[in-house]
Amino acid sequence: MDLYHSIGRRKSCRAYIQEPLTPNQLDELKKALDSFEPLYPNAPLEYRFTSETKGMFQVKAPHYLVFSGKGEEGEQENAGFIGQKLMLWLDAHERGGVWLGASKDATEQRKRADIIILAFGTVEGSPHREISEFRRKPIAEITNAVEDECIKAVHLAPSGMNIQPWYLEKREDTVKLYRQILKPPMSLAYTIALLQLRKLLSKSGISTCRLFGRTQSLMCTKKRDGTVIVEVANKQAREFYQTLKVKVPSSVDLAEFKQRTLGLKSKGD
Ligand SMILES: Cc1cc2nc3c(=O)[nH]c(=O)nc-3n(C[C@H](O)[C@H](O)[C@H](O)COP(=O)(O)O)c2cc1C
Repeated sequence: MDLYHSIGRRKSCRAYIQEPLTPNQLDELKKALDSFEPLYPNAPLEYRFTSETKGMFQVKAPHYLVFSGKGEEGEQENAGFIGQKLMLWLDAHERGGVWLGASKDATEQRKRADIIILAFGTVEGSPHREISEFRRKPIAEITNAVEDECIKAVHLAPSGMNIQPWYLEKREDTVKLYRQILKPPMSLAYTIALLQLRKLLSKSGISTCRLFGRTQSLMCTKKRDGTVIVEVANKQAREFYQTLKVKVPSSVDLAEFKQRTLGLKSKGD
């Protein structure tokens, strides 16, 4: 089955009809999963369904699939490779899914070697979107080969918190993939910002995952002087922010933000 078409229309789905798929539909999904070749054959994965998960950024879904391993090198890459194929397969079958990178299996089946969880099912509304609705960094920020069709597909790939921590450098016959590793204080800043957001939302009854699901992450571009330009939010996002009585700024002074919101001081302060 050609899944390429789904790359340009899939999205992370966070609102599900809480009705399980039929046993036949689940069998079909298992068959598809077993047919996907791993990236590293020496690091096989195990899959299992679980009924309950816990952790940050929860999404309530009728099904959760746990990717588990044995602690071998290459397992995480295999989980991403096969799991994202399954996401495309779900999209091609009018269903949706979302990675749950910060969740754990909350049942007795939980194992130390569990890698990641994928929530899926029949979604409320459409599991697809238009290509113009993808929130991504400008492609020139992630590669030197902006016309390369494969890299254009990578540009649309999902990433935790949509940080797109990659750069692809194309030379004559090679493509080097660089990964940006978030270090403190930015990794810490994400966690603190999330906890503060949760506190802010607690009275409204809106969960952070619903907020992220409805509003998507606003695209931000950092300028050399440390100012972060925030894109204009779409109508759906604006309405949601209005409900929360939160004003979306058009720009943020990063140093001031770190100090005021996160209580972090930059070097030299
Ligand atoms: C490794 C990984 C972990 C993720 N973890 C979560 C999560 O815990 N909860 C969640 O709601 N979304 C999670 N996501 C989804 C991202 O937030 C989403 O891919 C990103 O915002 C881009 O949006 P899109 O997938 O709709 O294109 C994760 C994505 C990846 C790739």
